Amino acid sequence: MPAVAVTRGRLTGLHEIVDVGRDRSRGGYSRHVWQPAELELRAWFLERAQRLGLKVEHDRNGNLWAWWGEPAPHAVVLGSHLDSVPGGGEFDGPLGVVSALDAIGLLQSTGFTPSRPCAVVVFAEEEGSRFGVACLGSRLMTGAIDPARAGALTDADDVRFADAAQANGLTARHLGRDDVALGRIGLFLELHVEQGRGLIDLDVPLAVASSILAHGRWRIDIAGEGNHAGATRMQGRRDPMVAAARAIVAVRDAAAARGDDRATVGRIHAVPGGTNVIPSTVTTWLDARSEHDDATRDLVAEITARVSAEAAGEGCSVSVVEESWSGAVRLDPALRDGLAARLGGIPVLPTGAGHDAGVLAAHVPTAMLFVRNPSGVSHSPEEHATLDDTVAGVIALERVLRGLL
Ligand code: GLV
Ligand code: MN
Ligand code: MN
Ligand code: MN
Repeated sequence: MPAVAVTRGRLTGLHEIVDVGRDRSRGGYSRHVWQPAELELRAWFLERAQRLGLKVEHDRNGNLWAWWGEPAPHAVVLGSHLDSVPGGGEFDGPLGVVSALDAIGLLQSTGFTPSRPCAVVVFAEEEGSRFGVACLGSRLMTGAIDPARAGALTDADDVRFADAAQANGLTARHLGRDDVALGRIGLFLELHVEQGRGLIDLDVPLAVASSILAHGRWRIDIAGEGNHAGATRMQGRRDPMVAAARAIVAVRDAAAARGDDRATVGRIHAVPGGTNVIPSTVTTWLDARSEHDDATRDLVAEITARVSAEAAGEGCSVSVVEESWSGAVRLDPALRDGLAARLGGIPVLPTGAGHDAGVLAAHVPTAMLFVRNPSGVSHSPEEHATLDDTVAGVIALERVLRGLL
């Protein structure tokens, strides 16, 4: 195999970005779209792609494309994202981008010439960590989100997505479905660090994905009565923080009672947010997931009812607003089986995490490859992939490209 001639350490460019966006206070990495760390990664991507002789362009929605050959329809497209959750791991996203570039570099080192266009894409705002909606770049490109709605999304500093886009070289009125970019994708393949224990349990480095859970995000506002912490007797308080505490337990209980459903409150915000102040409002954000769309909707309906009852018991009111929705995805079975066979019969695994591949799957044949994560943990500094497994992923992509190009 050609890779044998190349030392393993040189087979991955991950070390080139290992210090970009380290979060000293949270641990791990915080790389949010169009903020300094992510911009540094975009600059790195441009430079790394140019070193490989690829031509880099950005599309109307902030996604980056590095082309091997001229941009054209029916291309084989690999890629992932470079942004992270707050305090996230090193691999979620960048592993797919770096491995794709490395696989092209490996092919080039053997003198291979593609007979079909090939590109590496970096999708913008996959995690939704800055503007709240995950997979924003791929959703915009495919028309899965109304561009006016996307443009009006705001970050923690009240910067609108449209203004951030404009400040980063895009034309806000051109955001939205991009038939040119979409039309060039013949198939999409995203390599990703596994975000669970499937490959640890199977004791193998690689798998191909079968499906993605239905999932979404909901904003839950609980309103009570703001008041003085010392001057207000415990009886008769309408404290939305207490209601939120009860609501969060209800969220966990509702999902846990349904077998393998998942529901998480990972973010909470109290207004006004003073130690000696009973809040007037508490906002929590719910992430809920299940195997099927209906089951997910059912779960959220049950959570809404339970949260409303808990809040009413504390004299508070509740509003629940859906912020994003992604239906369950079955990745392309023919592509999946072809990849699994080409890679020596590697296993097929479902995933509970969302991906740009899930958005693309409604439009083009789409597949995913997973690389073992020995910690079994993701969206955390503990997320990991060994050098050996990372190299196995690059070699797998190289082998797949050799067959497709
Ligand atoms: C993103 O990684 C998600 O699954 O929410
Ligand atoms: Mn992620
Ligand atoms: Mn990811
Ligand atoms: Mn993801």
